[in-house]
Amino acid sequence: MGQPSPARTHDDWWRSAAIYQVYVRSFADGDGDGTGDLAGVRARLPYLAELGVDALWFTPWYLSPLADGGYDVADYRVIDPAFGTLAEAEKLIAEARELGIRTIVDIVPNHVSDQHPWFRAAVAAGPGSPERELFHFRAGRGENGELPPNDWPSQFAGSTEPVWTRLPDGEWYLHLFTPEQPDLNWAHPAVRQEHEDVLRFWFERGVAGVRIDSAALLAKDPALPDFTEGRGPSPFVDRDELHDIYRAWRAVADEYDAIFVGEVWLPDSERFARYLRPDELHTAFNFSFLACPWDAERLRTSIDETLAEHAPVGAPATWVLCNHDVTRTVTRYGRADTGFDFTAKEFGTPTDLALGTRRARSAALLSLALPGAVYVYQGEELGLPEADIPRESIQDPMHFRSGGTDPGRDGCRVPLPWEAGAPYAGFGGEPWLPQPAGWAAYAADRQGEDPASMLSLYRAALRLRRSAAGFGDGPLTWLPAPEGVLAFDRTDGLRCVVNLSGTPAELPAHTSVLLTSGPLDAEGRLPQDTAAWLRA
Ligand code: NOJ
Repeated sequence: MGQPSPARTHDDWWRSAAIYQVYVRSFADGDGDGTGDLAGVRARLPYLAELGVDALWFTPWYLSPLADGGYDVADYRVIDPAFGTLAEAEKLIAEARELGIRTIVDIVPNHVSDQHPWFRAAVAAGPGSPERELFHFRAGRGENGELPPNDWPSQFAGSTEPVWTRLPDGEWYLHLFTPEQPDLNWAHPAVRQEHEDVLRFWFERGVAGVRIDSAALLAKDPALPDFTEGRGPSPFVDRDELHDIYRAWRAVADEYDAIFVGEVWLPDSERFARYLRPDELHTAFNFSFLACPWDAERLRTSIDETLAEHAPVGAPATWVLCNHDVTRTVTRYGRADTGFDFTAKEFGTPTDLALGTRRARSAALLSLALPGAVYVYQGEELGLPEADIPRESIQDPMHFRSGGTDPGRDGCRVPLPWEAGAPYAGFGGEPWLPQPAGWAAYAADRQGEDPASMLSLYRAALRLRRSAAGFGDGPLTWLPAPEGVLAFDRTDGLRCVVNLSGTPAELPAHTSVLLTSGPLDAEGRLPQDTAAWLRA
């Protein structure tokens, strides 16, 4: 177990990979200080190998004041001491590789921490200095420059705060996210050079891929003009200059046989696909699938649109149900509104966790059977719900920048439960975010012994996905099915059926049932909110 099958050792491993997202701070705490760390991940590598994933994507593990959970990087070449050391990261990369697991690191090119040496130097050097040219510094508007230089909206959904902050010397600097995350000026050659060097730094250490944060935001219209949504091209989203940047990155990655996955939130599928041309990024996250409600027609449309937009550029699709920014899957699928929308997040939205869990089990089998690569966010395999974080414990800046109305993203970032009988459910020391009552019931050790658990389902599904024929990248053919039922064939007679209708569904013709997300009924039919993998 844990060894790569021959099909996964090809250079195109990324076209079919199952990639597990590690939010380091909340994964496992090796030194007992309440913060997850690299020692914790190393100790749990056997768990990840047994789970059967092909790669790990680590959210930023670099030196950071954690103003935005590590997406405020002070030094890309240093591991934050709370997480460990560079030597440990190198060991972790090598140990994972021994188990057949590749490593993907997270690069945040749009902005740095306000504690990054470049920004500190820019602040110190004052207006008009070359140091300030690495960022977007401007004079303010208004009689005394007391108004921000433009009217751009914050990229934190629901945020009422400006994207400009004024320094005591009178100049303003741009930050699409928090004031602690000043935006870099990508028109500056030193910014480009530095990032290509950082890519090499990590590729040299055996990293197999890079996740690109806010990938469509880096380039700005140099005039930084005001902008009204819907009127002409955006001065800061999806600008054509980006493609030149990513072509240069691709050349670096190709030297190391490494891959990219871009965080590209764009509603226009043609614009989205441009990032996936053969000389640009290998893959990008599929956020329309992630946001899609639990509805057969909507899911089928999302799947068709995804495959149609990827086909012309020859890139594989990715399938994502959850990540560290969005509401956990079992909670979302148990709500009246099963879609995800950043602007619709509220405190106290009711959910039916039993229903949500049934659906999440089906969604797991659905996404693992679709053509392309799939992402699993830590804790999804345990069926963790979104936690209600007491207001006084919330740390996420998204909450504070919304004036306290948005609950923020901490509810999906709660430290994992490993051992039901241990303090803090075996996470380590007292966790940096409180674990809700009953968290131990989700512990990995307990679920490992229960064949009906979410963990057992993920293990079985990932094992089949690796070893059985028909999974991964390749064609998909829809089968005729009753309303509310999704049924499709992959290759080699692999057949997936998901029942989202209100009544039990007959299984399509098959010679064997490979796996189901829940028991079939007494007549051998597929109950509501249940999925099956069959061999025709
Ligand atoms: C996207 C990341 O996933 C999110 O966590 C972060 O807050 C923003 N980018 C800004 O870096």
